[in-house]
Amino acid sequence: MIAVGSDHGGYALKQVVMKHLDSRGEKYFDFGTYSEASCDYPDFGRAVAEAVARGEYQYGIIICGTGIGISITANKVHGIRAALCGDCFSAEATRLHNDANILALGARVVGEGLALKIVDTFLDTPFSNDERHIRRISKIEP
Ligand code: RB5
Repeated sequence: MIAVGSDHGGYALKQVVMKHLDSRGEKYFDFGTYSEASCDYPDFGRAVAEAVARGEYQYGIIICGTGIGISITANKVHGIRAALCGDCFSAEATRLHNDANILALGARVVGEGLALKIVDTFLDTPFSNDERHIRRISKIEP
């Protein structure tokens, strides 16, 4: 199960991403926002991050205009490793090396085609389970 969320800046791309998740047969829940009316990205980044941190969802996908504000918010939640990705190399590496559990996208930064490739790369790449990466991840949170 995947938790998705966005602010107004990410709303349109989120609709595209959810349609893509449907085509992959993925189950997901949309934590909002539900329109393009102006709203505050922390409300949605935190809702997704807390749901993932509680273990209710394997991954989260969060989207705002840049992906920056919403990823900063998500990374304040204990146990969350949210990665803002604008390319497939980063999406693959953050799963392999950081075991990232949330993908953040900037709707005003990446086009739809690239965003969907990034989503696929993130979801289809397992954590490496390498000892050095486990050790480094364990050092992230105090
Ligand atoms: C909203 O205008 C914009 O600030 C927001 O989507 C995001 O880019 C913040 O980091």
